[in-house]
Amino acid sequence: MSKALEGVRILDLGHVQAAPTATQLLAWMGAEVIKVEMPGRGDITRGQLRDVKGADSLYFTMLNSNKRSITINLKAAGGKKILEELVRRCDVVVENFGPGVLDRQGFTWARFQELNPRIIYASIKGFGPGRYADFKAYENVAQCMGGASSTTGWEDGPPTVTGAQIGDSGTGVHLVAGILAALFQREKTGKGQRVQVAMTDAVLNLCRVKMRDQQRLAHGPLLEYPSKEFGDTVPRAGNASGGGQPGSALRCAPGGPNDYVYVIIQPPSWEPLMKIIGRPELITDPDFATPEARLPRIPECFSIIEHWTLTKTKFEVMAALNEADVPCGPILSMKDIYEDKELYERGYLVELDHPTRGRYVQVGMPIQLSDSPPDIQRSPLLGEHTEEVLGWLGYDAGGIKALHDEGAV
Ligand SMILES: CC(C)(COP(=O)(O)OP(=O)(O)OC[C@H]1O[C@@H](n2cnc3c(N)ncnc32)[C@H](O)[C@@H]1OP(=O)(O)O)[C@@H](O)C(=O)NCCC(=O)NCCS
Repeated sequence: MSKALEGVRILDLGHVQAAPTATQLLAWMGAEVIKVEMPGRGDITRGQLRDVKGADSLYFTMLNSNKRSITINLKAAGGKKILEELVRRCDVVVENFGPGVLDRQGFTWARFQELNPRIIYASIKGFGPGRYADFKAYENVAQCMGGASSTTGWEDGPPTVTGAQIGDSGTGVHLVAGILAALFQREKTGKGQRVQVAMTDAVLNLCRVKMRDQQRLAHGPLLEYPSKEFGDTVPRAGNASGGGQPGSALRCAPGGPNDYVYVIIQPPSWEPLMKIIGRPELITDPDFATPEARLPRIPECFSIIEHWTLTKTKFEVMAALNEADVPCGPILSMKDIYEDKELYERGYLVELDHPTRGRYVQVGMPIQLSDSPPDIQRSPLLGEHTEEVLGWLGYDAGGIKALHDEGAV
């Protein structure tokens, strides 16, 4: 079966997590991805958080499936020449170096256009144009400056970063959208373009409901928040729902650290919910009957429901509430998810064999395309495809040896 991005060639200068997330998704959509890495070391994540001595870390393998790896020294004359040849033959260049890194090596946007007017040049940086443009950034820097951390956690606790990698992987997903749009526009114009996503912008995009709340504050307290008093900025909301429907994580039996279920009170759910928990009188009680009446009593509503959830396991609660169409979600540990057979059966968790680390589990393709199913393959070893790619570029054995001697690959 053909793949959605068959024939699209990506030159992947990405490292760590943000850009590799984007190129991995593009690879799973069928693009050919050539990952360029520093000779000798490679993507720094290959050696970070290593669990198997001498083998690529899971940090690397989880983000670099279905790519080929070529080592190129971008600071050597021979290396620059290889990169130029690759730019001429690729459709998209993706990078997330620190600000100015590629410019310093002579690879400016103008130079890329000279080499290939059809090239799409996609970059991730920590910040957009302005006073922070020259600063480097990592995941949590973006979470802190994009509005996520000040609004996450408990009111009486410190700002908190989330486990979801919204700064790195979240930005990578945004970059994919930009790259696909640029490829589509190129079909009509024949021209490439520059695609840029700042991590702090991507995080703020994912926190736009908090910007909504910042503006609502001017008109009164945010009643769905647990806070009793409000200052001039959006407080941390604990486990309160970020949407228009109140929600909370409620304790369940037997009381372990993840024995909680998140319950949402949609207006139509109140009646079935009250019947299930054995409090039918609250369906018509004027203090609880309508969403408006419940709004100032949200903590009380959840404490009434928790009285019941405490007598059940999170999965029993899930079964009972879904029976009545009440949205809820048991808090799943990573172990629960890792051991969920159904995820393997439907190919979202995939077991892969790796030549140096053995078998590992990969989180697969979250986007289902009916005519372009992914074929998930292991990540490449460092420089595994250097000779193959150089051969394809036209270098013969003597030329490849000269590049090695020069330290260019
Ligand atoms: C992530 C980040 C903080 C890492 O910083 P870093 O480890 O210092 O890495 P840099 O990207 O600045 O690159 C460092 C050097 O490696 C060099 N380098 C990288 N790949 C190379 C290669 N193949 N050949 C030769 N040199 C190479 C660069 O040229 C640069 O050298 P210079 O500073 O002398 O110009 C930084 O890349 C960054 O801010 N990126 C943008 C935001 C981002 O994506 N952050 C999240 C990452 S998940």
